[in-house]
Amino acid sequence: MTPVFADVTTTLAWIVLVTAIGGWALYAFFNIRSSRAEIGSEIELAANRKEYYDDETLEGKKLERTQLLGLAFLAVITVTLPLYWILEPGRQAGAEKEFEHKFELWGSGLFAATADGGFNCAGCHGGMNGGGGVAAFAVTDPKTGEVKSVNWKAPAINTVFYRYSEEEVRFILNYGRPFSPMSAWGLVGGGPMNEQQIQTVIDYLKSVQVPREDCTDPTQDAKMCDGGHLPVAKQQEIQAEAERLVKAGTYASLGEALFNLDLGSGNYSCARCHTKGWSYGEPQITGGGAFGPNLTGGSSVRQFPNQEDMIAFISAGSEYGKKYGEQGQGGGRMPGFGAMLTQDQIKAIVEYVRGL
Ligand code: HEC
Ligand code: HEC
Repeated sequence: MTPVFADVTTTLAWIVLVTAIGGWALYAFFNIRSSRAEIGSEIELAANRKEYYDDETLEGKKLERTQLLGLAFLAVITVTLPLYWILEPGRQAGAEKEFEHKFELWGSGLFAATADGGFNCAGCHGGMNGGGGVAAFAVTDPKTGEVKSVNWKAPAINTVFYRYSEEEVRFILNYGRPFSPMSAWGLVGGGPMNEQQIQTVIDYLKSVQVPREDCTDPTQDAKMCDGGHLPVAKQQEIQAEAERLVKAGTYASLGEALFNLDLGSGNYSCARCHTKGWSYGEPQITGGGAFGPNLTGGSSVRQFPNQEDMIAFISAGSEYGKKYGEQGQGGGRMPGFGAMLTQDQIKAIVEYVRGL
């Protein structure tokens, strides 16, 4: 609502200014004209020699009129000043919102497909809401040396802030994902986008996040709130799908199912980073390591002698420069799953991974 006030104020100011200038011009014109009369020849008595109103008028009607005028101006001030006071914070907040909105709009232009003049994030990540898609890519078979084209799963971007902090997302955008279709986009990583464009895309990504449930602070925007998680109905869907796959015999345990599962809507679990080939439908050794380290051979038990520490790590993800476990060095690249999965689901995964 408020940006309108800025416009109305501007228009009013213009009207006042034009009226004032016009008034002065008229005054000057008539003043100069009337002063053209012969100098010195008093055809009429000079104004300062004319007799003014008598006391009766001066102390009566004239005085009252001047007082009334003063009162009227006072009324204008007493009404408009508080009104301005009341509306000003709203106008400022509105201007801020409008500004944010502008960046989101610019960001959506950058995110759009090549055909729409953007950098084609939408082309791989499944349209303008970034709900997950596929990317054509070429991989080399390490044994035969054969190069073949594959379809690589591009994860949902409308949940990316469930997994990563803003700094971590910026890092991914700047430098890309090595050995994946996600190339570097920032100038620092050799890509085409400058710092401002990266920030503008990040602003857009924030605006398309799936709203969370149970935010710790209800005044926060549910798209970016603290403590919230995936809507419970979605988490239950994931649970039901995992249970179904265990019943069907596809996986031996709930943990195994949840480790490998496609969580739906472009959200993937652990295998996409810890199992080579999973992202293009040719999974090799489960948990054998890919972008993320090898988890087999009991390595995670050595890293986290205490199971609770491992659950906490998987919930929060790694942080750049922060140590984890016995000798882990966080790169900010292991996403947190605490907002996506329930604690029971993470516990089931951890129990499974510790047995790999
Ligand atoms: C050629 C296809 C392609 C294009 C274009 C592309 N991406 Fe990606 N992106 C991917 C793939 C595939 C991955 C997953 C890589 C992996 O498996 O580690 C990815 C990963 C990501 C991630 C990390 C998400 C996660 O959870 O791991 C983010 C964030 C991201 N892309 C944002 C963008 C943005 C923003 C743009 C546009 C500036 C963009 N991408 C352009 C294919 C693409
Ligand atoms: C986007 C890719 C990605 C996904 C998805 C992912 N991880 Fe990771 N994970 C990593 C990376 C990278 C590291 C190494 C730490 C770093 O660089 O921050 C890591 C580290 C780990 C470690 C510590 C290993 C060690 O020995 O140091 C464990 C355990 C782990 N991940 C388990 C999981 C589980 C369980 C899931 C699924 C709930 C999962 N990861 C999902 C990328 C990923």
